[in-house]
Amino acid sequence: MKDKTLVAGDWHGNLMHAERVMREAARLGATRVLQIGDFGYGWSLLEKPSPGSNNYCAFTQEISRLALEVKIPVYWIDGNHENFDLLEAAGAFAQNEPVGLLPDVTYLPRGVTLEWGGQRWLFLGGAHSVDKAHRTPHQSWWEQEELDLRDVARALGHVNDLRTEDFSRGLARPRPIDVMAVHDAPLHSLVPGDHSVWAHKDQDTRPNREKLMQVALQARPALLVHGHYHVRYTAARGVFAPLPDTLIEGLAGDGAVAGSTLIVEAP
Ligand SMILES: [Fe+2]
Repeated sequence: MKDKTLVAGDWHGNLMHAERVMREAARLGATRVLQIGDFGYGWSLLEKPSPGSNNYCAFTQEISRLALEVKIPVYWIDGNHENFDLLEAAGAFAQNEPVGLLPDVTYLPRGVTLEWGGQRWLFLGGAHSVDKAHRTPHQSWWEQEELDLRDVARALGHVNDLRTEDFSRGLARPRPIDVMAVHDAPLHSLVPGDHSVWAHKDQDTRPNREKLMQVALQARPALLVHGHYHVRYTAARGVFAPLPDTLIEGLAGDGAVAGSTLIVEAP
């Protein structure tokens, strides 16, 4: 059976939507679900770590229960709407490798790579909240939301490790990354329609997108898939000049399952 990843856009802790996505993944025979940020980790203010446990997040527990029920593991990257304090308390944020949070629920820190079905995936969460002025620090907004230089260094380090591996195998030209799964988009203007109300905040979102671009230019992914803007669109190869060999897919958020999911099959 072919390796098949169902990539899912923003969940925002919406359990009803997440369950529909998980059941669709089961129907399609997916190998795994990859949620690409705004998972909704520890979002509820009631979700404080309980004594002796760093993993308390009611939503994650429900996702773990569902994953075990449908027998499909869930992986996720962070967006800008996660409780980063809790993620740090769980020892998961800014790590160098995947972190199992609960049975069949794995968090993929920024810059981590994995090989799925022979394809190389690079993960890079994080984004800027354009509405942060209306949010409360450590309750509905966290300063860790944006990429920082350590995240970029971690990602480039992993990409370079893969190149070194290719050279040591005797490959004349290293393979690029097959799929780059990110929360933010490399360029705001790529995304049609949505967020135009936030156009005046475009400058504020630039630092995060520039760091993302810095990594993408090195990784040269065949496919880049992102969420965050809640708009389903496709930019064919050649459309986005800085990454001419990259197909870009933007996914919608929680709501309709169809626009918010994408199947990526290993060749
Ligand atoms: Fe987002």
